[in-house]
Amino acid sequence: MKLSAFFEEDRLAVDAALDRLLPAETIQPVSIHTAMRYSVFAGGKRMRPILCLETARIFSSDLSPALHPACALEFIHTYSLIHDDLPALDNDDLRRGKPTCHKKFGEALAILAGDGLLTLAFETIGATPVPAERRAAILTEVAGAAGTVNGMVGGQVADIEAERKAVDEKMLEYIHRAKTAALIRASVTAGALCAGAGAEDVGRLRRFGETIGWAFQVTDDILDVEESSAALGKTAGKDLAQQKATYPAVYGLERSHQIASELATKAIAELSPYAERAARLREIAEFLVLRRT
Ligand code: FPP
Ligand code: MG
Repeated sequence: MKLSAFFEEDRLAVDAALDRLLPAETIQPVSIHTAMRYSVFAGGKRMRPILCLETARIFSSDLSPALHPACALEFIHTYSLIHDDLPALDNDDLRRGKPTCHKKFGEALAILAGDGLLTLAFETIGATPVPAERRAAILTEVAGAAGTVNGMVGGQVADIEAERKAVDEKMLEYIHRAKTAALIRASVTAGALCAGAGAEDVGRLRRFGETIGWAFQVTDDILDVEESSAALGKTAGKDLAQQKATYPAVYGLERSHQIASELATKAIAELSPYAERAARLREIAEFLVLRRT
């Protein structure tokens, strides 16, 4: 799939902002800032920040305030990958094509680098140059999505507790929506809130984000079966080896492809009131389910 130039433009803007917002490697303690920077700059696709910026674009031509929540979401996402890879969780040696944080720096620093990134995320949102009520709304959205009630930590708990168990469709849906869709939903709503969207638009975009985030994790499950470790930059085939609750395990590969595409269609339908203003968001939504990495 050929990506439009805006993906690369957004990625460059996000990378420059991440570099500005992360403490320099020379700042004490040097070891943790080196570990945090190593994982943030290990080569992620930056989909959450791009979703945040491109949602903000529907409501405002000045995207610079949205770079704050955009980077905060990438900090939280990177923390979640560092902790997910730890021996106590999924125990992986490879992430974003490089040794995982704990392989490179040891377990103690990897745990603390994750903690540091999570904390920096909220400091970053707190410094967003928008009116205080918008900042508060973004904080509430993002904290909830990262948390235990229908959020990422809750989903991760359910994910590890579902290993080697027969999981029903309802539990599978809960895991995917909490573990992955919640943070993607917050990436969309944070962009909308930052750019001053009203309640009706935020509600509509929340449904878009939730549904495309769910489709994204179904696609992630499919890629774990269909792609190589080299293509994914992480160990492929791991879900089956760990007997994880995944869409291919519960529905089979063919039906999983159908589900991902039905969810993407449903998500994109939410964007119809924005017509051309949501052209980029529509393209991102298509990419999230057609991607091969
Ligand atoms: C890949 O994103 C990541 C996911 C599909 C999310 C999986 C969920 C977790 C790891 C939650 C872990 C939670 C805790 C609390 C430890 P991506 O394809 O955007 O990765 P990239 O940024 O490397 O491109
Ligand atoms: Mg995991």
